This record gives sequence, structure tokens and C-alpha cells, in this order.
Amino acid sequence: MYRRSFLTLLGGGALVWPRTLEALSRRLESGGAPDDEAFWAEVRAGFLIAPDRIYLNNGTLGPSPRVAVDAVAEHTRRVAATFPEGVNWDDLKQSVSALAGGDPAGFVFPRNTTEGMSFVANGMDIGPGDEVVTTDHEHIGGKEPWRLATTRRKARYTVVKLPVPAPSSQALADVVWSGVSPATRVVMVSHLTFTTGTVMPVVELARRCRDRGITLAVDGAHPPGMMRMDIGALGGDFYASSPHKWMLAPEGNGMLWLAPQWRTRLWPTLASGGWDDLSLGAQRFNHLGTFDESRMAGLIASAEFLQLIGIDRVEARVRHLRGILEGGLRSIPGLSVVTPEDESLKCGMVSFKVAGVDSLDLQVHLARVANVRTRVISEYDYGFMRLSTHVYNRPAELERVLELLADAAKNGVPKRGSTT
Ligand SMILES: Cc1ncc(COP(=O)(O)O)c(C=O)c1O
Repeated sequence: MYRRSFLTLLGGGALVWPRTLEALSRRLESGGAPDDEAFWAEVRAGFLIAPDRIYLNNGTLGPSPRVAVDAVAEHTRRVAATFPEGVNWDDLKQSVSALAGGDPAGFVFPRNTTEGMSFVANGMDIGPGDEVVTTDHEHIGGKEPWRLATTRRKARYTVVKLPVPAPSSQALADVVWSGVSPATRVVMVSHLTFTTGTVMPVVELARRCRDRGITLAVDGAHPPGMMRMDIGALGGDFYASSPHKWMLAPEGNGMLWLAPQWRTRLWPTLASGGWDDLSLGAQRFNHLGTFDESRMAGLIASAEFLQLIGIDRVEARVRHLRGILEGGLRSIPGLSVVTPEDESLKCGMVSFKVAGVDSLDLQVHLARVANVRTRVISEYDYGFMRLSTHVYNRPAELERVLELLADAAKNGVPKRGSTT
């Protein structure tokens, strides 16, 4: 019941809102190029985003398409009705695996990256004198589980400083590796940093870690749903993500993939029946007690929505929009982009600073004059403004924001809290 194939629904009329999907699927044969605005207008019509809202913060939370919202509502109604069938784990695992790679059996569904990474850090046998190496571009959701584990177990927590903007993948790998010592047990990095949108050299780091018997834990909050990828082929030991970001799932959808060797080795953090039944593999970690399964019905629907469009089309559109934004940003005097120039080192996010303008003031200004939602990276005192682009954004919105930014760089913006 929970697997709601769009193609079935299109014919079945069970969906409250089949029009856009029909239109989309009709256009799929010939349309969907990154600049095919008629096609992408159909995609935008599949969201509930208010027409005047310029939403450029998918990096924090992705707005769910209507089909995912409907799936959550329908699940809730069914439970109330009441058909407590429970989530179909196989469908769920297939849906995320089809979009982000990784064999279905390796998936666990916590609420978010924070919880997934906590399962990892808490479940490893780290002891006094061991070391965890990470970077100065990690989000609290990825790094704090390791700070807790190392503090509690008297292990060392080492932070290396990444170059900004990153010059090359090789330079990033070498800098991370400069922090590694004979005591290093774990390296934890983002797949794509939340600060500057930089793609980290995960494959290369996984290779180096394997050679030295070091565990690689990847904070993959962003890439699934943003780009074509294969979690398994990256070669890391753990991959924690938040489908409520780029996979556009409803809030409270996390996922964690465990490499095969860890499915029987990691200690569970939450214990319920079967936690010690190693024949269950990674499924041991899905025994979380009673929880809201409607979020998972929503996740299946949003994953299928993206699959219907096709992840290659999605990525091409995401890059196209980010390219429009980034090209414009780079041409504004006084504005410096901190996201790398090399296309292979970025995808759907671009960060920058405007000389003489506090990014938080700028954020308030953009929200006030044009209903724009941005993210300011205040963490580590970076003070960058970050913009994310996803399939529902429109070039006209980006042009409007660029106009406002050019004006801000030239004339400044009011201080927060001022009335002018
Ligand atoms: C890189 C990265 N890791 C972890 C997180 C935490 O995600 P969540 O709040 O879904 O656990 C975020 C959230 O923005 C993030 O950007």
C-alpha cells in the first residue's frame, strides 16, 4: 500500500492532484533540458511554495512536493481508519537506494543526519588515546556526535583547516590527511560542505582510510537528491543523510547506510527486540519502537517524484540554476564567492560575502524587500551567505536576487532592527 507508483496513480485517479504529474510525464519524452522553462514550470506546479516566495535555502530544509504531503496525509488517515499495516521496509529501502545508490539492505532510517551520525559515533568502540580527525567545515549534526564520543571516552578530537575556496580535490584530500596520525581510528568529513558547498574527495579519502584500517564516516546530509551518486561506490564505512533536504522528503526523515562489515559490528544506540540478532544485519537499527511512519510514506513519494523527473535531469537543472546565480554573483564588484570555481567541486549551493555588509543584515533585507529565504553561515564566524538551488526555483527569481545583491554591494543595506 505504501508503494505508490506514480504511473499507477496517474491512471487510478487516487491522487488528489494528478494534473501536474500527467503533464510532467507527457513532457518527459522530449523535455526536461536544464533550460526548458515550460517543463520546469510543471515541476514547480508540483510544490506548495507560495508564488511570491523565493526559497533559496533547500540546504536547510527541502520543501516537499505535493505528492509527498498527500502521502503523509493519506498514511495518517489510514492509521486513524485504522489499517496499521506498518511501513514496507523493502519499498522504502528500494526507493532510496534507487536514487542514491548503496545496496538496500544497508539502510537505516533515523530522523536525520544528527541521529544517524550519533548512532555511528556512539556505536563504535573508541577508547582512550584513539583519535577522530575532522575538518573546520563540519556541521554540528555531523561533528558533535564525535565530540561527545571522544570527550566521554577520553579520545582525541582533531580538526584540520580546509582551504577556502578549495583549489582542488587533491589539495582537500591532502589537508584532511595531514591530520591523520598512528592514533587515528576515524575520519569524519562531509560529502558536500554546508559552509561553501564544496564536494569533498570522499573516494580518495576512503581509499587512504582503507589502506590504514581507519573508519571513514561521511556526513552526506546534502548530495542525495541533488546529484547522481552511489553511496556504496564512494567506499566509506558509514553514510548519514537527511532526505528532508535535497530528497524533498517531509521533515524528520533521515537515513544512514552501513557498509556490510559494520552491519553486524556496530553497537546499537537504541535497543529493542532483535538488537543482538546479527542475522538481521542493518535492520537491527530500524527497531526504534513506535514512531510516526507517515514520514516514511512521504519519503517514498518524494523519492519517486525525483525518480520520475530523473536524477540526471534534476542534477543538470540544479547546476544550471546555481550557475546562473554564481555567474551573476561573480560579476558583482565587492562580492567574493567562497565556493570553488571548478565545477566538479560543487553542485547546488554557492556561498559568498559582500564587502562591508554583514550577511545577517543582508539576510533580513532580502527577506523584507523580496520575501527571499537565504542561509547565513555564522558557524565558525565565517559569516557567509549561502544560496541553494533546486528543481522548483526559477531563473526570474534568481535574477531578482542578483539585482538586489548588486544594489546591496553598491549601496549597503540597513542594519538589522533599524526601521529604514
Ligand atoms: C552538512 C550537514 N550535516 C548535518 C546537518 C544536520 O542535519 P539534520 O538537522 O537533518 O540532522 C546539516 C544540516 O543543515 C548539514 O548541513
